[in-house]
This record gives sequence, C-alpha cells and structure tokens, in this order.
Amino acid sequence: MTAYDYRESGLVFPPSFLIGSATASYQIEGATQEDGRGPSIWDTFSRTPGKVVNGDTGDIADDHYHRMDEDLDLMKRLGLEAYRFSIAWPRVQPTGSGAANEKGLAFYSRLVDGLLERGIRPIATLYHWDLPQGLEDAGGWPARDTANRFADYAAIAGAALGDRVHTWTTLNEPWCSAYLGYGSGGHAPGRTNGAHALAAVHHLNLAHGLGLQALRSVVAKDDAEYSVTLNFHVLRPGTEDPAGSADAMRRIDALANRAFTSPMLKGQYDYDLLADTAGVTDWQFVQSGDLDVIKQPIDFLGVNYYSTATVRTWDGAAPRQSADGHKPSSGTAWPGSEQVEFLQQEGPYTAMGWNIAPEGLEELLVHLSTEFPSTPLVITENGAAFDDEVVDGAVHDPKRVDYLSRHFVAAHRAIARGVDLRGYMVWSLLDNFEWGYGFSKRFGIVHVDYDTLVRTPKDSAHWVTTLVREKRIP
Ligand code: FCB
Repeated sequence: MTAYDYRESGLVFPPSFLIGSATASYQIEGATQEDGRGPSIWDTFSRTPGKVVNGDTGDIADDHYHRMDEDLDLMKRLGLEAYRFSIAWPRVQPTGSGAANEKGLAFYSRLVDGLLERGIRPIATLYHWDLPQGLEDAGGWPARDTANRFADYAAIAGAALGDRVHTWTTLNEPWCSAYLGYGSGGHAPGRTNGAHALAAVHHLNLAHGLGLQALRSVVAKDDAEYSVTLNFHVLRPGTEDPAGSADAMRRIDALANRAFTSPMLKGQYDYDLLADTAGVTDWQFVQSGDLDVIKQPIDFLGVNYYSTATVRTWDGAAPRQSADGHKPSSGTAWPGSEQVEFLQQEGPYTAMGWNIAPEGLEELLVHLSTEFPSTPLVITENGAAFDDEVVDGAVHDPKRVDYLSRHFVAAHRAIARGVDLRGYMVWSLLDNFEWGYGFSKRFGIVHVDYDTLVRTPKDSAHWVTTLVREKRIP
C-alpha cells in the first residue's frame, strides 16, 4: 500500500466518534507577561539567538488570550465537537510552585465555560511544554522534584476546572520534552545531556502518574476522563534486507515509544531500554514504588501521528544521515543509540519535509490496540503544514484537505479492523508558533495573518465542517 491508496470518500464514522481540533497554550496565546503569568522555558529559549527561525517568539502569537471569544465563535461556526487546548502552567503558578494565580485560572475557566456554552467538549492538557522557568532553574525535568510540583499544579487546575472539563490529559508528547529539551537541545530548555534526557523521561512518567492521582482526588465531575498523549515513532527499515535494520528499529522503538508506554501501561521499564542506555545512565533515579505510581488507569491513550521514520545502523562509511524530521541541533535525541541513522524517506512531503504516510497511522492504531487491547485510543493530533496564502479572502489548501482525508481513511480502516478509536483532533485549529520553526510553518485549518491577526478559515476547515456534520468523509 502506498499513501495514494488511501483515498476513499463516503466512509461513515459512528455518531459517537468525536471530531475536533487542537492547539497549545504557548503556540497561540501570546500575552506572555499579562495577568501575572510567569516566564516559561519557551520564553527564554525563543529569546536566545539562533534557537528559533527568524527569532520568532510566542509574545503575541495568535493573540488568542485577547481573542478567545472570537476563536470560540469560530469553533462553533466550524461545528467542532471538541477542542483540545493546553493550560499554561506559568499562568497558574508563575514560578511553578506555591499559590495559584487566580487571574490565570480565570482565563481557562472562561474558556471552558465558553466551550460548554457552545456545545464543544473541553479536552484540557496540563503540560504542552511550557515549563515555568523557575522550575527549570531548580533543575527542570531531570530533577525529581519537578514531578512533585506537577502534581501540585494538577491539583490546582483540577480543583478549579474539574467540575466542567470532560477530559484531562497529563502530558503532551513527553518524548519531545525529554529528548529534544534535554538531549538534542532543539527544544527548550535546550540542554544537551543524554543522562539528563533519560532522567527527564522518568520524571515526566512520574509526573503523569502523580498528576493523575492528584487530579482524581480533586476533580468534581464523576464522569471526567483521564489520558496522556504520546507521539509514536512508526519505524521502517533503512536496509534492503529488513533484518539489517532490526536492531536500529528495536532501539528507537525502546527509546521513543516503549520508554513511555511500558511504565504507563505495564508498570515497567523494558530490559532492552535499560541495556541500550547503560553506558549513559544507571537509572538510579527510578525509586522503589515509582512504577506503581506511574501505572495509573487511563480512559484512553492519546495518539499524535504525522509521518514515519526510516532507520538503520550507520556503517561508518558514507556520511551519516539524520533526517529525523526535527530541526538540526547539536546534541543527541537518542542517548545510547547515536549509531542509528535516520534516512530521508520517500515522498510526498509536507512543508516540514515530513513524508505523507497514512498507512503508518493505520498500522500504529492496529499495533497499539493489539498491544494494549483494553485501552481505547483517540488521535489527539494529526495534520500538516503547507505554504498557504490568502487570495481574495479565501485559502485554497487542497494538499491539506488531501492529507486529512487520507488520514481519516486510515483511521476508518483501523476502526474497521477492530480498533477502539474514539475520536480525532486535527492539528491545528489556527496557524501558530511552530516551536523551533517559529511562524514559518502553517499547520492551521484556519489561516492567521500575523500582521493583522485576522483569521480566515481555509478550505480544509470547511472540509472538516462537512465531515463533522455528516460523520462521513467528504
Ligand atoms: C507536535 C506538537 C504540536 C505541534 C505539532 C506539529 O509534536 O505536539 O505542538 O507542534 O507537532
């Protein structure tokens, strides 16, 4: 099967299949110094020369903080059934610990009320990468105390919003927080130390477990759901004989995927992960009882998927390739497995240079449901960046429509194969601050003019509206 086989209109989703869109606080809010918000690691990182394309920062971003009502009305007009947003920890606790900042909480309270008034289900993520700078200064995710601080924060957010939020997600893509934040240095805080990256992995896992315990102890809504969102590496062999890539694939699967799913869903770190990384760390930061805390029941696993990765073991001859889909940086995102080479993959590509591979999504969903049969799945992010332009008040983005259409087909095929897939959040509602790429990459189904901040729904937004209304792929 190739990407081109995934075109099929007319496929019908069950009425309960939840379709919505997603964003994250630092990427859209702006107002970074208002109403008592403290600095986050992304404020610091984006102000560091050379870290973000064009020196862009989230200072204004989409100005969603001031345009929330307009954005809520837009969501309603588009017919979204759910909105996945994230809460900025430094708005709630400006230094990452201590008393709650009521103004920060009030913003999210208004957002949640605004969603409910419009019949849109709120899916709140507690951590989408904007760690309070104060906690980074105290050691960041490599320090165990950050997990305890996260639990306090979860309790504050849960107590304030827990009577209304339908779904809680602890972390978004801890892979990025740990390995890009502390390993490769491509993301905030930009540290490059493999041992720190692995300690961050564990403390993020611990934060997930402690955070769920804290939420469950305060949330007032009995039918609230709890989840975590992971990004998965769907691997392809980079050698003609797949056996030649087996070790590279196993290593990346261990570091990228099983480092999170095994503790969270099975209560263990896999032996091969510990062995592969033995030269980097002794894992002494895992204390007795931690794995029981990390393995908390979840109502579904959030799946973020964009493309596949092709790997093999570098033979030392040709120059080493590292087409891993992320902004080049100085450190390693793969502690203990630096010998793995990421190869340029077959197109077609998005504007990120990521290959379009809907079959990878189907394969991933089937794999996860086989591996964890009692855990329902929700696609919490999928989407694509393309270079869009407004022409005569419209944005024609046929490539994004095609991308989404094929990935919805993949999701539908997974359901037909027995996967308990409950919903699909398109990344992203709005064009926004794409981390190291700044505003140079547009993922929105709604175009944002960064001079005027005018929002213009793209053709893909209208496509989503039809999809939601008919629960049928247009
Ligand atoms: C994911 C992030 C999200 C966005 C998309 C393109 O890794 O969770 O914030 O940047 O990629």
